[in-house]
Formats: sequence, C-alpha cells, structure tokens
Amino acid sequence: MVRAVPGTATALALPFADAEPSLPVARSVPAEPPKGQLEPPKGQLLKWIGSKQRFAPAIVATFPKDIGTYYEPFVGSAAVLATLAPKRGVASDVLGPLIELWSAVASQPQDVIAWYTERWHAMHDGDKVSVYRELRDSYNRQPNAADLLFLTRSCYGGVIRFSKVGAMNTPCGIHRPIPPAEFARRTAAWHARLATTRFVHSDFEAMLDGAVRGDLVYCDPPYSDSEATLYGAQTFTLSRLLAAIDRAKSRGVRVALSIDGSKRSGQRVCDVPIPPGLFATEHAVTVGRSMLRRFQMPGQTLEHEVVADRLLLTWAA
Ligand SMILES: C[S@@+](CC[C@H](N)C(=O)[O-])C[C@H]1O[C@@H](n2cnc3c(N)ncnc32)[C@H](O)[C@@H]1O
Repeated sequence: MVRAVPGTATALALPFADAEPSLPVARSVPAEPPKGQLEPPKGQLLKWIGSKQRFAPAIVATFPKDIGTYYEPFVGSAAVLATLAPKRGVASDVLGPLIELWSAVASQPQDVIAWYTERWHAMHDGDKVSVYRELRDSYNRQPNAADLLFLTRSCYGGVIRFSKVGAMNTPCGIHRPIPPAEFARRTAAWHARLATTRFVHSDFEAMLDGAVRGDLVYCDPPYSDSEATLYGAQTFTLSRLLAAIDRAKSRGVRVALSIDGSKRSGQRVCDVPIPPGLFATEHAVTVGRSMLRRFQMPGQTLEHEVVADRLLLTWAA
C-alpha cells in the first residue's frame, strides 16, 4: 500500500508494509517550523550520530501542551529534551557515563567546562591523534563522563561505536573540536534547559513502566536494522519496546516513537512490524542524507540516499 503524504517541503510517498493498519491521520512535518515554535539551544553540546537537533522543533510541535511528566528514555544528545525544556522531566539512557555527563550539565556545569577545557588543551598542545587515542584508552579502561564528553566532540562524525566486547573504537575525527569559550557558552545554554530534568541510568523498559496517565514519553531508539554496535545498543529490541508502549498506552500514557523509515529514494519498504491499533497518528520527518551510511560505506556516492524518519503517536493529534 502506498500512501501519499501531502503538503510541505518534506512531503514523501511512503510505502507501507501490507500488514500495517491504516492510521487516521498522516501528515508530513515541515523542515522549517513556523516562527514562534520552540527551538533547541544554538549549537549541539555533544556531537552525536542520530541526534535529532535539526528536527527537534518539528517533533516537539506534535506534542500535547498538557504534559504531566515528560519522559525521554533514549536521551542520547538530549536534542528533543532541550528543545522542549519540560517543567518536569525524566531522561534516561542505557549508557551510564552519558547520564553522568547530563547530570553534571544540569547540576555542575562548571565541572563539565573544566573537563572539556583540560582535554582541549592537551589535544591542542600535543599530537591530535595520539592524544585522542590516549583519551579513548582512558575511557575504555574506566568509562567516565569527562572522557566521553571529549570523545563525542573529537571522534569521527560523532559516531559513538563500540566493539563486541564494549570498547569504544571510533577513530579520531578530521575536524578541530570547538574552542573552550564556545563550549562554555553552549554549556550555559544547555544547563538552563535541563535544570528541571532528573537523569537516570536505566534501560528504557523501567522508565516506560513508571509513567502514569497524563505523562508523555518520547522514544528515539537505536535503529534496529543498522545500529547494533552504536552506543552499546545490543540490549535493545523493537519488540520489547512495542510491548512496553502498549502497556503504557493502556494506562493512559501518551507515547511518541521516532522510528527508522530509511529508504532508498522512497523505494525500500520499511518493514517494521507495528502492531495494529497501537498508534493513531503518523508523521514523516525528513532527516536528509544518512551519516551512518556514509560512515559504513566510505567512498560511495550517496546522492540518492534520503532518509525519512517516521514519527508515530499513540494519540489522535
Ligand atoms: C538514536 S539515539 C537517541 C538520539 C537522541 N534522540 C538525540 O537526539 O541525540 C539512541 C539512544 O538509545 C540508547 N539506548 C540503546 N539501547 C538502550 C536501551 N536498551 N535502553 C535505553 N537506552 C538505550 C543509546 O545509548 C542512544 O543514546
């Protein structure tokens, strides 16, 4: 079944798997949100593959206004969280040092600036690649927030990739990490957005199971078919997530799910098995060329690769 998604610059014709139910509403999310809409802080704090920084305003625009507690159980670079800046938030991730890092941004931003500045000077004054490798070794000996922070800013393309035994193994990036003054400016801006959020090191399931009627949960899980070694995501399965969303929905929790809709020029059918009736609304969000593919297939031209994320909502918008 092919459903035309009408409208804006991001309009796409989405092929759907036959097993999928019809959703009552299907619309595209504009790449440029109207003026007055919430925006993320200027400049990412972490460089993070799969970050929703560019699309966070369009995603947040689909959220209801009356949110009890906002949950984000796959927080990553916190782009959507920082755009919404909820009155009451709980953000979590399975990557412990990442949660340590976000907790520090929220409560001790001066520490975070000091971590970055020290490592930036070591790299600036020494041999860039050797210093990068030393930091990566230090992180792999004892995973910690301070090294992870600088690795995200200096590794290739923000690709946080781990080996089967859990060692971060991304090579050094070719770019220069941003100077400490710019990092400090960004930290202050992100700190202001995250002050009312509690950060928890947890698998997603416990977070979804803790949400109650009136809460909103936004899920941006690893893409199941291509990110098994990214962020140490080996514990993730889509079927476990869909079951947890179903339980949450039956308690009156609203859940929004971003899901891999990648396709080659719109030809590849996204074969995610979505249970009938679980979601009420679907949006298409164009995310442009896939950085992940570029990393995995060096040297190949990807002019035709355009990725459309699907945003599924359990409530009728
Ligand atoms: C696609 S990224 C999220 C990107 C985020 N929306 C952003 O804008 O940066 C997926 C995140 O899920 C986390 N993750 C992987 N498996 C998980 C699990 N079982 N429970 C909770 N988080 C998990 C990863 O560490 C990663 O940060």
